[in-house]
Amino acid sequence: MEITICIGSSCHLKGAREIVSKLEKIIEKCELSNQIHLKGAFCMGKCSVEGVSVKVEDELFYLKPENVEQFFQDEILRRL
Ligand code: FES
Repeated sequence: MEITICIGSSCHLKGAREIVSKLEKIIEKCELSNQIHLKGAFCMGKCSVEGVSVKVEDELFYLKPENVEQFFQDEILRRL
């Protein structure tokens, strides 16, 4: 599975980097690195939305760093 995180400048300011590192830690902790791949992408055209654009299987989510754990539980684990 691929998780694509927007690393455009607007999302960068909203914490994209922190989201990437949190996801990396969770994936490592759950030993899922052979199943989940993180990818960066440039602006997804949703800069005005609150939160960093994150795409999973063509579905877009808008994440804040503090919501990463919940997002992983709710949206990622159920898709594996
Ligand atoms: S910079 Fe992320 S949606 Fe525009």
